[in-house]
Amino acid sequence: MDCLQKWPEPVVPVQALSESGAAVIPERYVKPASERPSLNSTADKIIVGIPTIDLGGLAEGTAECRATMRAISDACRDWGFFQVVNHGVSHELMERIQEVWRGFFYLPMEAKTAYANTPLTYEGYGSRVGVEKGAILDWGDYYFLQYLPQSAKNYDKWPSMPISIRDTTEEYGREMVKLCGILMKVMSLSLGLDAEFLHKAFGGDDVGACLRANYYPKCPQPDLTLGLSPHSDPGVMTVLLADDQVKGLQVRKGGEWITVQPLPHAFIVNVGDQIQVLSNATYKSVEHRVVVNAAEERLSLAFFYNPKHDLLLGPARELVTPDRPPLYPCMTYSEYRLQIRKNGPRGKTLVEPLKAL
Ligand code: OGA
Ligand code: NI
Repeated sequence: MDCLQKWPEPVVPVQALSESGAAVIPERYVKPASERPSLNSTADKIIVGIPTIDLGGLAEGTAECRATMRAISDACRDWGFFQVVNHGVSHELMERIQEVWRGFFYLPMEAKTAYANTPLTYEGYGSRVGVEKGAILDWGDYYFLQYLPQSAKNYDKWPSMPISIRDTTEEYGREMVKLCGILMKVMSLSLGLDAEFLHKAFGGDDVGACLRANYYPKCPQPDLTLGLSPHSDPGVMTVLLADDQVKGLQVRKGGEWITVQPLPHAFIVNVGDQIQVLSNATYKSVEHRVVVNAAEERLSLAFFYNPKHDLLLGPARELVTPDRPPLYPCMTYSEYRLQIRKNGPRGKTLVEPLKAL
């Protein structure tokens, strides 16, 4: 754990680099040619976007409800990603949470670096993931905070400015937990399990949850770098609120990167690695990345719903058959996450190779 006490190099917020007005990005943000985004080739692929699902259907008559559950299930198998509309979260709250977090990133630099994080918990203001010395970095800053379990929540690690940021984040977190609860029920039933199966398997009322506010400043050479390198999300599921004016998120589908165009007031939901493990790869946690641009900054809020940290997680017994043996060994979420915290975003290096076992 020693290497997690501090960063291997001084952390430079990307926002400071962006605001310096330099026309060239520092070399440590320049990706090898094979990893760079080819910006032109993605524009025409927006058309075949991730599925959009109207959650209003869950409250309708039985046929409507079944069709909606089927749509979610298909999206979890085929894409690992979907957007939801009619999700019950107030649009006013969605706008307010984006506004307070934008406000945070607009504070003077000293007000933000007062919350500078370390690789031990990542809580606070940061600019990198992974502790490998000399690593090529991503063009993005973030604020990471723990929302659940209650025992791990520490307001001293949440920003105190803008003035309403804590209250708004609390309120938003409650809505996110509700939404994740509904989606977990739908996924459990669609997998042929009890409605409460996933909720219980991931720790019941002791589940974890974190918020990561991502801020991607303008980048003078967006074709050379990435806002966030390819990765899959390690936890249960992620609910992302992204700017519908500035695109940036791309999802891997087959060999291609598909740009996501968020609908107004929609959430983007993606399956995390632990649902892939528990469902014995029926549902997929899919790689995604973020591209940046020269004209506009971008803000996104990723709410991560995570398992209780010390439970042993493996494929559900109900989903293991002689034809479909367990594809993953059991591991606690703490063990799993530690690998990522050391290595940084590296595609699906953790769940993918296990599949071959
Ligand atoms: C993440 C993530 C996507 C985005 O924070 O894990 O994938 O659009 N964010 O910022
Ligand atoms: Ni992600």
